[in-house]
Amino acid sequence: MDSLYSSNTHTLITGASSGIGKQMAEEFAKKKANLVLIARRADELEAMSLRLMECFPIQVLWLSCDLTEKEAPRLVYEWCKERNLIIDTVVNNAGAGMFGEFERLDIDKQIRLIELNIHALVKITHYFLPDLINLSRGSILNVASVAALYPLPYYCVYGATKSFVLSFTEALRYEMRHTKLTISCLCPGDTDTSFFHFAGNTNKKNSLMPPDLVAKSAVKNLFKNKSVIFPSNIKLISLIPKFILKRIVYRRVSKYSLKPSSNR
Ligand SMILES: NC(=O)c1ccc[n+]([C@@H]2O[C@H](COP(=O)([O-])OP(=O)(O)OC[C@H]3O[C@@H](n4cnc5c(N)ncnc54)[C@H](OP(=O)(O)O)[C@@H]3O)[C@@H](O)[C@H]2O)c1
Repeated sequence: MDSLYSSNTHTLITGASSGIGKQMAEEFAKKKANLVLIARRADELEAMSLRLMECFPIQVLWLSCDLTEKEAPRLVYEWCKERNLIIDTVVNNAGAGMFGEFERLDIDKQIRLIELNIHALVKITHYFLPDLINLSRGSILNVASVAALYPLPYYCVYGATKSFVLSFTEALRYEMRHTKLTISCLCPGDTDTSFFHFAGNTNKKNSLMPPDLVAKSAVKNLFKNKSVIFPSNIKLISLIPKFILKRIVYRRVSKYSLKPSSNR
């Protein structure tokens, strides 16, 4: 397949060192998109970038950084600018969960979770969005979860951060409806990654989705300009009626949302 990407633009993926983000890097590489990979584990990022450049005719750059640090999203943006990179796709995938009873979990760690799952995602979107608007094309793919659709006891904070991501992304998509930008939200179900290990959840999980299938569905449906992407999993079907109901309410309510006066 010919590349849908221009040779002088890059796709930026956060949380690209493992799991869904790593598989999404693979999918974008197949489409000959140049890549900028972000995560903390430098060794993983370096190995990945060398392998992808060996397998595909693309440029892969990587930057190791901890996105929970306040200035990290700005530094990521400036790092791209210093290298004159034109980012036309931003995948806000980096995220983590924390399993347990809210009152027993360390509060500082829970706040760091909010910093990663919400603050970093919002800041990265805010830094790169004006450039995408100026380019008059491009995409933002934010990774939420099916946990965005309902309250999730024992993942209280995690579930709430993912509801934020879904709500934020759908509202931004609406604001951007007159541009040529694609703004989509990925809502995977349980996926076979290191997520549960890092969340401290050792319960055995049944019917986990393979991360490569999640990534394939994400990239395919981003190209189709789907607003919310549910990688298929039979368990998800039970959630769909509730989601449709929420969307009907959202569509009605968004008609009455007032635009700020300083519009483009
Ligand atoms: N697995 C699931 O069942 C599932 C379901 C729904 C949604 N999701 C979402 O999918 C996304 C990817 O998760 P995953 O399942 O692929 O888990 P994963 O394999 O643990 O991947 C998480 C990624 O985020 C990066 N990351 C974590 N903390 C970071 C930090 N402070 N700064 C920068 N990067 C950081 C990790 O890299 P480093 O450790 O190298 O920093 C890694 O690349 C997350 O947003 C998650 O909430 C997962």
